[in-house]
Amino acid sequence: MSRRRNHTLPGKSCFDDIYDQPDPRAYFRRLAPLEYQIPHHAQPVFRHVHTARAAIPGHHGPVAILDLCCSYGINAALLNHHLTLRELYEHYTSPDAQACSRDELIERDKEFYASRRRADPIRVIGLDAAANPVRYALDVGLLDDGFTEDLESAPPSEPLRRAMAGTGLITVTGGVGYISARTFQALLESAQLPVWVAAFVLRTVSYAPVANCLAGHGLVTEQDTERTYPQRLFTDPTEQRNAIEVLTAAGADPTGKEAEGRYHTALFLSRPDGRQPGLDILAAEAVAQLNG
Ligand SMILES: C[S@@+](CC[C@H](N)C(=O)[O-])C[C@H]1O[C@@H](n2cnc3c(N)ncnc32)[C@H](O)[C@@H]1O
Repeated sequence: MSRRRNHTLPGKSCFDDIYDQPDPRAYFRRLAPLEYQIPHHAQPVFRHVHTARAAIPGHHGPVAILDLCCSYGINAALLNHHLTLRELYEHYTSPDAQACSRDELIERDKEFYASRRRADPIRVIGLDAAANPVRYALDVGLLDDGFTEDLESAPPSEPLRRAMAGTGLITVTGGVGYISARTFQALLESAQLPVWVAAFVLRTVSYAPVANCLAGHGLVTEQDTERTYPQRLFTDPTEQRNAIEVLTAAGADPTGKEAEGRYHTALFLSRPDGRQPGLDILAAEAVAQLNG
């Protein structure tokens, strides 16, 4: 496994080689031993938050989710199918999957997802800087619309601006740090509906600049202070040491979390002031629904 360090997120190992492959097999093979799991934690939370957001009166038609840093459409897969992340790992790391060509994999995956499709799918739009994963997610039908754009370095295209018109919720797992407030600013400027933002963010990355940007659009950011959500195992002691140094310098306590060997994330939800229930309750309800 590569021990290269990430140039955007200092101290973190670099996974760029699996972010732009023609299909997700390398992504799942590489992340399985690291027990990458944040989409699993996000699955019930994003569905539950979407239900709360869609319940706001004033808009006819579906309220779409824009999944930022969507990669191969993993959050879309979990949102709209009777599936767990564990099943996705098994599906993409199985010997059968390794033996397929990309075209065969796509045919296999179309059937796989169609047979597990929920009766109440949410419209999901994907955005990622890498072209191949977005193409794959569109080819197998995971995304309703997909965009390969890097809003850190260029303004949104006209089609992406138009797609934002029906978007009421922006979600992100594993992306904040690669993307900054710049990306959120560009998307919020294109919004036409009230947009909420739900983000799982590594505790080593400050969300304050994004929260400040969202405040400029009338959104109040809440953090779920009841729990943290493990993201993955550290690749090596150096990565762990770096994370603990960053956290300690920021006044956070890694005891029982990063000190035990995994990155942890915090969950943030940004919405107009005064919305109830609070995020801690929404998150607890979501987790209870998953377990019940
Ligand atoms: C850790 S992966 C997370 C993927 C997925 N959300 C998940 O949790 O499995 C990070 C993703 O961010 C994407 N990314 C990196 N920089 C980006 C940027 N500037 N704009 C959009 N996506 C970016 C990468 O291509 C990659 O797909």
